[in-house]
Amino acid sequence: MVVNITAQRRVGVALLGYAFMGKAHSHAFKAIPHFFHPPPAVPELVVIYGRHEERLREAALNYGFKKYTTDWRTAVRDPEVELVDNSLPNNMHLEPTLEAIESGRHVVCEKPLARNSEEARKLRDAARRAKVKTMVAFNYRFVPSIQFARQLVKEGTIGRVYHFRARYLQDWLVNPSAPLTWRLKAEEAGSGPLGDLGSHIIDLARFLVGEVEAVTGVVRTFIDERPLVEDPSRKGRVTVEDAFAATVEFDNGAIGTLEASRFATGRKNFNNLEINGEKGSIEFNLERLNELRVYLREWEDDGLTGWNTVLVTERRHPYIDRYWPSGHIIGWEHTFINEMYHFLKCIVDDEDVAPLGATFEDGYRCNVIMDAILESAKTGRRVKVSFS
Ligand SMILES: NC(=O)c1ccc[n+]([C@@H]2O[C@H](COP(=O)([O-])OP(=O)(O)OC[C@H]3O[C@@H](n4cnc5c(N)ncnc54)[C@H](O)[C@@H]3O)[C@@H](O)[C@H]2O)c1
Repeated sequence: MVVNITAQRRVGVALLGYAFMGKAHSHAFKAIPHFFHPPPAVPELVVIYGRHEERLREAALNYGFKKYTTDWRTAVRDPEVELVDNSLPNNMHLEPTLEAIESGRHVVCEKPLARNSEEARKLRDAARRAKVKTMVAFNYRFVPSIQFARQLVKEGTIGRVYHFRARYLQDWLVNPSAPLTWRLKAEEAGSGPLGDLGSHIIDLARFLVGEVEAVTGVVRTFIDERPLVEDPSRKGRVTVEDAFAATVEFDNGAIGTLEASRFATGRKNFNNLEINGEKGSIEFNLERLNELRVYLREWEDDGLTGWNTVLVTERRHPYIDRYWPSGHIIGWEHTFINEMYHFLKCIVDDEDVAPLGATFEDGYRCNVIMDAILESAKTGRRVKVSFS
C-alpha cells in the first residue's frame, strides 16, 4: 500500500537563521509528526535564510529544507510559506517579523522579542492588528516540570506565593580571550545576559507567579574589551553588561530576586528557580529538567519533613504521554518540540497561543521589565513598571 502523504494538512515553514536556534527549531519541526499523533499538520521545511551561501547550503541539506536564500524577504514572501520562524540575532527581530506579519504569515520569534521595549511595542501592536498567530519562543514554558510547577501554583498546592528566586548562570565569558560576538554588542543584542538569560527568568516569573509591578537592578561589565571575531589580533569594546541582579515586586504581593551572568565560573547552563509559598515550596533546575523538587508543610505532620524529588516522567505530567514510558527521561531539545507543536496546533485549530505560549504582549512586557531594570541600574532608584 502507498501512503497518501498529500492528504495531510501541511504548513510551509521559512526559517530565518541556521545557527544554534535554527538547528533546535528545525529539529523540532521535523520531530512533531514522530511524537504527536496525529500531528495538527506536517511542518514542511520550505526555505532557510542566512547570509553565507556555502554554510547556508550545507544547513539546508542537513536540516532538510527544499530551498535556501540569502535574501530574508524572499524567504518570508515565498508563496509556499505559511509560518515564519525568526531565529536571527536580536537586531534582526523587528524588520523581518513585521514584514512576515504584514504579509499574512504566522510568526514565531526568538526571545527577547526585541532589543528594547520601543521595538517590542511595534511588534506587539502589529500582532494585535493582524489575524495571524504570533508567539515568542520562550521555550522553558514547555519544560514538563515547569508546566507541572505552574499547575501546582495555580491549584493552590503551595498556597499563597511569598517568594520567587531565579538565577540563570553561565561562565563562557570568564575567559578574557572569548571573542566579541554579537551577544556582546548593544547595537545587535540590545543587552547582555539580561536579554539573553534574564528574559527567560523574567518570563518564567510572570508565567509562574504573576505580573511584575516594580524592580531595582544593578548591572556590571567586568571585561570591557575583547578580541574581534574577524581579526583576533585587534580588540573592540564590549557594550553590554556581563551580569545583572534585580529585585522584583509582584502585583500579588510576592517579592523576588533575579540574577544572570556569563561569569559564574563553573556554571554552564544553570537555570534555577525556587518558589516559596504558605503551604510549600518548589525548586527547578534546568540541568536536571526531568525533576521538580517539592516541599509541602503537610508532610511535617507525618514526620516526613524534607524536599521530595519528583521525577516528572509520568503519563499524568504535561507532554509525557507523547514520549516514552515512565522514567524514560527527555532532554532540552524536547522543549522546542513541545513549543512548536503548541504553535502549530494554535495555527491549525485557530486556538489562542496564551496562556501556555508567550504572546507578543508577553514578549513586550518582558522587554519593558528589562528596560526598567536597566533604568534602575542607571539611576540607582526603584522603578515602577508600566505597560502601555
Ligand atoms: N530559546 C532559547 O533558549 C535561546 C537560546 C539561544 C539563543 N536564543 C535566541 O535566538 C536568536 C538567535 O540566537 P542563536 O544563539 O541561534 O545565534 P548564534 O549566535 O548561534 O548565531 C547567530 C547566527 O546569525 C548570523 N547573523 C548575525 N547577524 C546576522 C544578520 N544581521 N543577518 C542574518 N544573520 C546574521 C550569524 O552569522 C550566525 O550564524 C537570538 O534572538 C537569541 O536570543 C534563544
